[in-house]
Parts: sequence; C-alpha cells; structure tokens
Amino acid sequence: MSGNPQAASLTTRLVGLGSYAPERIVTNDDLCEIVDTSDQWIMTRTGIRERRFAKDSEFTSDMAAEASRRAMKTAGIGPEEIDLLVVATITPDMAFPSTACLTQAKLGLGKVCSFDVEAACSGFLYALDVADALVRARDYRYALVIGSEKLSTIMDWEDRSTCVLFGDGAGAVIVGKGSGAGGELMGFFSEADGSNPSLLCQPGGGSAQPASEDSLQKRQHFLKMNGREIFKVAVRLMERAARKLLEKHGLTPADIACVIPHQANARIVESLAQRLELPIDRFFCNLDRYGNTSAASIPIALKEAYEEWDFNNGDHILMVSFGAGLTWSSGLIRWTK
Ligand code: COA
Repeated sequence: MSGNPQAASLTTRLVGLGSYAPERIVTNDDLCEIVDTSDQWIMTRTGIRERRFAKDSEFTSDMAAEASRRAMKTAGIGPEEIDLLVVATITPDMAFPSTACLTQAKLGLGKVCSFDVEAACSGFLYALDVADALVRARDYRYALVIGSEKLSTIMDWEDRSTCVLFGDGAGAVIVGKGSGAGGELMGFFSEADGSNPSLLCQPGGGSAQPASEDSLQKRQHFLKMNGREIFKVAVRLMERAARKLLEKHGLTPADIACVIPHQANARIVESLAQRLELPIDRFFCNLDRYGNTSAASIPIALKEAYEEWDFNNGDHILMVSFGAGLTWSSGLIRWTK
C-alpha cells in the first residue's frame, strides 16, 4: 500500500450497489410453529412480516460474495479493479480468518488488503467510513464494502422476544474516487459506548466464555437482548447521529430527501421521524420483508431505495444506525445523476 497525501481532498462516491437475500422466506405464521407468538403481535410491535433464512450450506461469506458480484456488475468493474475489501458482520463464518479474507478468495480478487469490522448493526456505516478514508488516503482504485449476516445461526428459539426479529442477507457497495454519476460520500459521524455491553450481546464463544458444556447449557452462544432498554436508547442515539452529521454539513433534517435507517423496528423508525420532525414517507423501509439483518440492513435498503425511489440530482440521503456495543453512526450522500 502506498500513501498519497494529495488524495485526502479527493471526492469519493458510490459507483455500484448490490444485495442478496436468501431464497427461503420465513413468515410470522411459520414462526408460530416454533415459538408461542402470533403474526399480529410481531406486526404490531415490530412491523416485520417475514424474513429470509440462508441454507445450512450458505455462509455469511457466500452471501457477501453474491451481493458483491451484483454490485460490481452495476459498477461495470471487475474483481481485478478492487484494491480494498471491508466486511461488516457479527456472524462471521468462523472466529478467524476474517470473513473478508474468505470472501476475497470466493470473489477471486487480487491479494488486496481485506479485513472485518465489527460494530454490530452500525457495522456497515463504520466499515464504509473506514473504507472511504482509506480510498482518500491511498492509491486504491475501488473499495468493496459489504454488510453480511447469517443471524439465523445465533437465534435462541426458546426466546420469543428476540428470535422473531432477525433475518439473513447481504448488501455491498463499491467506493471509487472522483466526481460523476453516483452517490458522493460527504461524511460520517460515529460514536460508541461500551459501558453496558449486556444490553445486546452474544456472550459465549469468545475468550471470556469459551465454548463448554456449561456455556452451551446456559445458551450463552445465542443473541441476548434487553429489548425495552434498547428501544429507548436507539431512538435517542439515532437522532443524535443524524443531527450531529447534518449540523457539520450546514444542513437540517428538512434538507434530506431520503433517510435510510437501520431496519430494526418500524416503531423505532416512526419515533425517529417524529424527533427529526420529518414525514415518515421520507424514510425508506423494507424491514417488513427482511426483519433486522444487522450490518446488512443499510446496504440492502440503500440498494432498494435507489431502485425504487429514483433519486434526483442533488438529493441528500442520510443513513443512520445503532447497534450492540453500543454503537451508533450516520453517513451522508449527495446524489449526482
Ligand atoms: N410474541 C408474543 N408475545 C411476546 C413476544 C412474541 N414474539 N415477545 C414478547 N412477548 C410478550 C412478553 O412476554 C410480554 O408479555 P407480558 O406482558 O405478559 O410479560 C409482552 O409481550 C410485552 O413484552 P415487551 O418486551 O414489553 O414488548 P415490547 O413492546 O417492548 O416489544 C420488542 C418487544 C423486542 C419488539 C421491542 O422492545 C423492541 O423492538 N426493542 C428494540 C429491539 C431492537 O431493535 N433490537 C435490535 C437492535 S440493533
């Protein structure tokens, strides 16, 4: 890697978007056969109607690779032009090597710098922020940034308050230098607070609680969450991330044509819209079809918003997330046709 001090001022932009959703659709009614729940409860409390579950033989890196192939196709570039790969995930294929390295091999990229970023549901925006900074600072041609999750593998089917919320999938974007058509990356705002990790975590399987009979018996390898508390902080922290970034760029919420929120819960999105004093129809939502796909949720939603909303020249698009850590983050795009 070689540094390029003059590149720091360059414009970077999104030149390709891709996503992948596994074939298998699991409806709320399907879940009623596994846990004591109802379509009505899930719809009213979350807005989720169905989600996708990957096959046993389909891993996080496979979904990441497929979303990436589609993103490269829309960008009209080949694997040999990718100089950096960053994957955001909390459900890596294995503890190590990174899912980025596994994905690099599946895509047939060159021996390029490849690593994972772990910031849970804020992971994609953290990863995009890092990739954007590296593309500006180095002589990379294109960076591939992916959010990919197989959350169905860490669901506790004995905990009905969490297992109905999540799904599998992947989204990918290509970041390049220069002006022209696409989404200009204007900037990011990211923060974290690690003082209360148990609000949302997967306690087992790391160095604190390695896999053991005891950890398995205590179901420590599944996702644990204090849903009510997360709900409250999520709304407040997403508002903070949005306002901080907009202020930095001399914008107000009213200047935003489209908000891509992390797709966790329709009520969280509605509360955020109220706090930002924006009509709900400025928020792109597809969580009814995918549930919460953690790091994959924003790139999947961004790609679908691009296809369905037909962004205008000069539109500002705000991406905003929160997740385990706690982490929260926002990113601002200006669209050019
Ligand atoms: N089906 C039916 N009933 C359920 C249920 C389910 N799937 N899950 C929980 N319940 C029950 C509870 O047992 C409780 O029953 P009780 O009153 O008899 O004790 C009741 O519903 C209310 O539970 P509560 O946890 O207060 O519900 P809620 O309104 O807070 O909604 C969440 C629960 C999880 C949907 C909500 O807290 C939430 O979305 N939080 C944010 C989670 C999130 O986005 N996490 C991802 C972060 S990236």
